[in-house]
Amino acid sequence: MYQEVTLMRSSTGNTGRHADVLKSLADFSKQHRAARWAGTFASFLETIFPADARGISRTSHQYIWDMMRAEGFEGADGRLRCQLFENELYGINDTIDRVVDYFKAAAAGSEVGRRLLLLLGPPSGGKSSMVILLKRGLEEYSHTDAGALYGIHGCPVHESPLHLVPHTMRAQFRSTYGVDAAGELCPYCATRLQHEFGGDFMQMPVQRIFIAEAGRVGVGTYAPHDPTTADIADLVGSVDLSKVSEYGDEGDPRAWSWSGAVFAASRGLLEMIEILKVKREFLYLLLTLTQEKNVKVSRFPLIHLDETILAHTNLAEFRKFLQEAENEALLDRMVIIQVPYTLSYKEEARIYRKLTSSTQAFREVHLDPHALHVAAVFAVLTRLQEGDEREADNLKKVRLYAGEDVEGMSPSDMEKVRAKNPDEGLSGVSPRFVINALSSAIIQSQAKSLTTMDVLIAIKDAIDSDVRIDGKKKRKWIDFLVTVRKDFYNRWVKEDVHKALFVSFEQEAQQLLEKYLDEVEATLDNRTVKDPITNEERKPDERFLRSVEEKIRISESGKLSFRQEVVRKAMGAYKRGDKFTLDSHAPLHDAVEQYLFEQRRDVLRLVSSAARPDDETRQKISVVEKRLVDEYGYDSHSAREALNYVTTLLAQE
Ligand SMILES: Nc1ncnc2c1ncn2[C@@H]1O[C@H](COP(=O)(O)OP(=O)(O)OP(=O)(O)O)[C@@H](O)[C@H]1O
Ligand SMILES: [Mg+2]
Ligand SMILES: [Zn+2]
Repeated sequence: MYQEVTLMRSSTGNTGRHADVLKSLADFSKQHRAARWAGTFASFLETIFPADARGISRTSHQYIWDMMRAEGFEGADGRLRCQLFENELYGINDTIDRVVDYFKAAAAGSEVGRRLLLLLGPPSGGKSSMVILLKRGLEEYSHTDAGALYGIHGCPVHESPLHLVPHTMRAQFRSTYGVDAAGELCPYCATRLQHEFGGDFMQMPVQRIFIAEAGRVGVGTYAPHDPTTADIADLVGSVDLSKVSEYGDEGDPRAWSWSGAVFAASRGLLEMIEILKVKREFLYLLLTLTQEKNVKVSRFPLIHLDETILAHTNLAEFRKFLQEAENEALLDRMVIIQVPYTLSYKEEARIYRKLTSSTQAFREVHLDPHALHVAAVFAVLTRLQEGDEREADNLKKVRLYAGEDVEGMSPSDMEKVRAKNPDEGLSGVSPRFVINALSSAIIQSQAKSLTTMDVLIAIKDAIDSDVRIDGKKKRKWIDFLVTVRKDFYNRWVKEDVHKALFVSFEQEAQQLLEKYLDEVEATLDNRTVKDPITNEERKPDERFLRSVEEKIRISESGKLSFRQEVVRKAMGAYKRGDKFTLDSHAPLHDAVEQYLFEQRRDVLRLVSSAARPDDETRQKISVVEKRLVDEYGYDSHSAREALNYVTTLLAQE
């Protein structure tokens, strides 16, 4: 068999891939057949339990925490970077840290474990995604050795077999195994134990269980539908009339329909969607469940259940909820974690990339390299604090939040600025709004290429036609689009086109930078410079230095301190063993770029001036276009558009 596989792989690429898939599927299936186990409680205690007493007696919080740790690793900052979220949720690390902290504390036995976890955030902000990742994580984990879970076979809440240990023997149990047997047998198993096994709990059947949302094991989900018809039975079940005749008594737990979400979630996670929309009666039940680990169902004694409740809601519901005074006591019993939109446009663009790459229609369309970033800057602008802040400040903030160097601010200022505006990210445009705008642009365009300008227009159309946005906000948001174009896109596209004018821009820029540095050092030291070709000694080229510096408006009186600072930075880099590059000094970076660009502008002038370009001109232009395609992420359509656009910009300067 193995040989067959290798043979197949060495033939054509297609069958090779085919074989790879088969092999992965086989591995997957093998993993998922993970040691199944079934036996009596007696043999469970003998063969399974002693090997992992701690693991088997874990609470749901401890189980989830262990799952996160199994997925995660310590980041450089000593924090747990949970891999579960790392490549799925972008730009909301603070939120993820808080969720991780919650489980860490709850697993350690802190009081927070007795409070319901409520995720609070704007629509399409990733709340459901976060819960889905946890669910999938649990499903996977339960198939691993470390995540092995056992339950009483046939139990409607897949309860821990340790519930079978009689109370009078629990002290002895504890001293033998070093762990607690906590929790009560459910009414169903209690009845069965008497009827089927005559009370001999050692004979009760136990099996390994695997968390599976579809199988209603360890994951439960509840979404409120119509509140007027919602019945508590959706959560805790009801009498199953078809079985009453069989057992002869409505009060027999075996005649109960155990279909409620809280039962499915036992041992794992209960997701409560839009929790504040549910009746208060539901809420009390859930809060008691987290606090006391039990629910009351008519005619049965309290039912012990161990599960973690993760609820979510949006801000509008939450504000409404806050207005009712009697809800205050309920809030005390919740841990609330905000899930805002990201404020980093780079992370926001990653969300778009993820969402677009999973859609066929998008995969067939080329987006120019700034299309998603431009949309993301727009989205972030709508999320910033409204108020009297000046536009320029907000533009700086956008760049600061994306981790860029901003004059007059250091990265450490970010925390301060964020703290001053705690509500930022809780409103504004959602990723979904942008994706919808992009989708309609794709449908309309027919062309298989969308440029940044197409995207800006698509967003403008989406704003115009959205009835939920009032006129004042529409105007403001459309102004943002203008800002995005002027202050972000123009800079980016100019840089691309300019760089594409050179065979190797990076190399020429580095050479120019080194020349600048040599000349500066010579002037500062009052030295002469040796001409590399003639070997003649000459004075430093002050004219060259000034022509570079003037690009970034360094004045005659400011030049000395600028030059000293450049040399200081260069020395610093040298001492650290780093190379002094354009990235080492932001203002000098701009100066060098502009200096080089101006030398090559004539090519761009050709694009616009020649009505009927001759062969040579056409050739020059097509070289630039080709570089845009090969090196800067354009396709030929968007490259041509970018070239025309930049030429027009230059004509206006
Ligand atoms: N920070 C983020 N990182 C990655 N993807 C995100 C992020 N925020 C939102 N998304 C994506 O946006 C989409 C909508 O998110 P999701 O459904 O999780 O939001 P929600 O908060 O549950 O919204 P709602 O309140 O409308 O239910 C998902 O496809 C999700 O992957
Ligand atoms: Mg949701
Ligand atoms: Zn049971």
